[in-house]
Amino acid sequence: MSCTVPDPLSTDIAVIGGGIIGLGIALEAQRADHRVTLIDPDPATGATYAAAGMLAPVSELHYQEEDLLSLTLASAARWPAFAGNLAAETGLDTGFRTTPTLALGADAADRAALGDLREAQTRQGLQVTRLTTREARVREPLLSPRITAAHLIEQDHQVDPRALANAIMTRLAAVGAERDGVKPEQTLVRTRATTLLHEDPADSRSRVTGVLLADGTQIHARETILANGLGAAGFGSLPDSLVLPLRPVHGDILRLRVPEHLRPLTTVTLRGMVRGLPVYVVPREDHTVVIGATAREDGNPGVSAGGVHQLLRDAQVLLPAVAELELIETTARARPGTPDNAPLLGRVASADGPDVPGLLIATGFFRHGVLLTPIAAHVIVELIAGRRDPAWDRFRPDRFSPALQPKEYA
Ligand code: GLY
Repeated sequence: MSCTVPDPLSTDIAVIGGGIIGLGIALEAQRADHRVTLIDPDPATGATYAAAGMLAPVSELHYQEEDLLSLTLASAARWPAFAGNLAAETGLDTGFRTTPTLALGADAADRAALGDLREAQTRQGLQVTRLTTREARVREPLLSPRITAAHLIEQDHQVDPRALANAIMTRLAAVGAERDGVKPEQTLVRTRATTLLHEDPADSRSRVTGVLLADGTQIHARETILANGLGAAGFGSLPDSLVLPLRPVHGDILRLRVPEHLRPLTTVTLRGMVRGLPVYVVPREDHTVVIGATAREDGNPGVSAGGVHQLLRDAQVLLPAVAELELIETTARARPGTPDNAPLLGRVASADGPDVPGLLIATGFFRHGVLLTPIAAHVIVELIAGRRDPAWDRFRPDRFSPALQPKEYA
């Protein structure tokens, strides 16, 4: 039996992974006039499919993650143009909305925790306005009379990640066909990528020249971007000594429909602390809300009954009317976590010093994938153009690889 190897395809930029990060990078690379090929058997069905789409640098500030704040703020600043241009280019709504956020406390300890967080936020120069619980309930009449604290954060917004992914895929295929003369199935290749291709196949530190797909196709590219979330860690032919310490942090998340007599359930995104546990309620214009999300490291990829119970219980503490909503979807997906909760973003040093040419990495976005999409795409496209901003060196993907510490990254 003869076995035919498919002809190689060639492109400027190969992006491995069609989650929101890979899609965002592909979009920005295409906008920068590169011919782009994105490879994923099922784009936008992983963490992107689950994500609520909060763009929340202020309310997502966690203690000891101040380094990350500069990146999340830089990305938040890029969101209006990123989403606005995409809407103008495609005529599609991405669900980008400047809905503000209300942080709420349920009991006295939650109130104290929220107060501590507000101190940390204001120390960083972030704007958080304390409201009385009465003021909060005038604004959002369905809030429970029992909430103990309310802080208004005007600058934390939202987008709909499913709508966004759909708009990006539409745009990639259209520009690929019209401008670059590439068939849609060769711009979005729905196959699994397995292994990096190297100039010297015996040397994983040599220039990356593209990627091998599971069906034997080779895609040759000037630059290859590994943006496949948790899949990056075990990818074939990674540079020698590179350690990508990714771990799955599963989240359960719910979608519910608000019956007519309860609309609007809330006009702002609610982020509650309920007996020490976080819960959020994100309103959409189609009269649904997204309630999330647990953070489990139990390795269970299915929806957790305990997780669903916890989310509904805690959301009802903030908004008793949640009990009257129609539960239309439960989803669980894994976020790609890293030891410092910050992404692995940029080029990779080789064991003998210089960066491995032709390879960029963008993974490990943990809770911040949607928020960080515009800045991740910008950083990668700048690096492709040979422009490196030292401010982002602290997120280099080789920072957990002791054998690969480049000199300028002490
Ligand atoms: N970004 C919110 C979450 O991961 O639940």
